[in-house]
Amino acid sequence: MAVTINTLRDYKQKGEAFSVLTSYDATFAQIVSEAGVDVILIGDSLGMVLQGHDSTLPVTMDQMVYHVSSVAKGNRGSLIMADMPFMTYGTTEAALENAAELMRAGAHMVKLEGTDWMKDTIHALSERGVPVCAHLGLTPQFVNKFGGYKVQGRDEKHAELMIEHASELVAAGADAILLECVPAPLAARITQAVQAPVIGIGAGADTDGQVLVVHDMLGMVTGRKPRFVKDFLAESGSIKGAIEAYVAAVRDRSFPAEEHTFKA
Ligand code: KIV
Repeated sequence: MAVTINTLRDYKQKGEAFSVLTSYDATFAQIVSEAGVDVILIGDSLGMVLQGHDSTLPVTMDQMVYHVSSVAKGNRGSLIMADMPFMTYGTTEAALENAAELMRAGAHMVKLEGTDWMKDTIHALSERGVPVCAHLGLTPQFVNKFGGYKVQGRDEKHAELMIEHASELVAAGADAILLECVPAPLAARITQAVQAPVIGIGAGADTDGQVLVVHDMLGMVTGRKPRFVKDFLAESGSIKGAIEAYVAAVRDRSFPAEEHTFKA
């Protein structure tokens, strides 16, 4: 049966962890979907892993639409989540127009990076039938404001602000939250605080779901390997085996382990 936002809500209610993995083309989408990954993310990480940029900022709507439509052709029942590229949701009007393009290309949900300033936009999208995932913590589109790729929410003031923002965005209509590079105790507090499913990357084992970039979990890392990445191909010996091992490790919460987690 196809995965929907209701499936993710059920997982949260039952306390069962679900898996999310990026894909950017039809072949990977089919393998990932058939391996039992619940959500395929067409991340704007494609600007870095496919295009070789040093950030996600150069990714365009046309490029995202191309990759979303490729993934949709290979998908076999996973929920398709598409990133809205940098500055394509700066106003509510732009967000509605651009989200519609991604949904027409085959997305079931869009992901936006930001905090409380997105409330009205999320409300407008949600009211018009577009499920939204709000990405908080280390939001890579803000790399120039953060001055680098750094763990977020380390002190209590920022941690409380992040909890407040997550709650406000869910109240505005967000159907899921994604937390990137935040200390595990904070991610656990946010997961408890909101009713919507929470997906983590570098956020510890207590979120409702886990996400990785497919290149990273296949050991295709060109620079320094981030702490939260595990190479599943090294143990499995095949791409299909690696993805199945990831799904199983997320499900039984053996991934992420302590060594993949930021404590504070
Ligand atoms: O763009 C992406 O792939 C992402 C994940 C790292 C969560 O946003």
